[in-house]
Amino acid sequence: MNENKKISVTVPATSANMGSGFDSIGVALDLWNELTVSSGNFAFEISGEGEHELPVDESNLVYIGIKSVYDLIQQPVPTLNFSCNNKIPFSRGMGSSSAAIVSGLLAANYLSESKLSNEKIFELAANIEGHADNVAPAIFGGCSIGIKDEKNGWVIDKVKIKSKLNAVIFIPEMILNTDESRMSLPSKISRTDAVHNIGRAALLVNALSSGKYDLLKFATQDKLHQKQRSKTYKAMPYIIEAALRGGAYCSFLSGSGSSIIALSDKREYTIGYEMSETARTFGINGKTMVIPISDSGAKVKD
Ligand code: HSE
Repeated sequence: MNENKKISVTVPATSANMGSGFDSIGVALDLWNELTVSSGNFAFEISGEGEHELPVDESNLVYIGIKSVYDLIQQPVPTLNFSCNNKIPFSRGMGSSSAAIVSGLLAANYLSESKLSNEKIFELAANIEGHADNVAPAIFGGCSIGIKDEKNGWVIDKVKIKSKLNAVIFIPEMILNTDESRMSLPSKISRTDAVHNIGRAALLVNALSSGKYDLLKFATQDKLHQKQRSKTYKAMPYIIEAALRGGAYCSFLSGSGSSIIALSDKREYTIGYEMSETARTFGINGKTMVIPISDSGAKVKD
């Protein structure tokens, strides 16, 4: 290890699925968690989002990321001190878990002088997460696609987004549990639903790179998870509808929720107002944020 070294890394928030790209496509947002790791007594100091909820022991996902690198290089994890300054809303479908994993991996990569590539970091992160739609944009930024080839493992590519887009995000006070939310999804789908999503996921990538943003309202439609999740989140389709009415190009559930995202390059405050007013009629309170898509992913700070 780099003796007495101190390292800070920043990792962006992410929004997974983007409607049709279930478990495969996600986008990075310009809102960052910062992790500082130094040698010293084992302790977690957490400020900001999740400071009262996150574990301060080896079950913390930052530590799981750290350990994954040391396991790979077959070395014991040194005694480390962790300071987390969290801005990504905790447990709201904005990639806080992936940010924790990726920050741990990057910090360990630096401290152990392993020089793992970002592709290797991505592989380790996706193996911990189980799907790639948050970890890919958390590492590579922008809109990233991650798939798993049965023989060759994880594959990543990044979509070139034609011009600046903002995410208008309605973040409810309520939390939806990702594991429970996934349990509501059927393990088998019909060919009609598969065809529905294949075409739209392809259209999503093409519309983002061509700048034909008017196509996004079709491209982000989904039949694999949103309708199923709306059984326990009844306001969701109405909040999505409100965002479109407010002038958004598209709107979808962020990851497994509870946040709902709309993409736009104008009228962001009207869109946010429409979303939160509609949520309020369902008794759901929350806050609205306008955050640009970030083309950069996780970084080691100088
Ligand atoms: N693709 C995942 C899901 C994202 O929808 O459950 C949440 O981690």
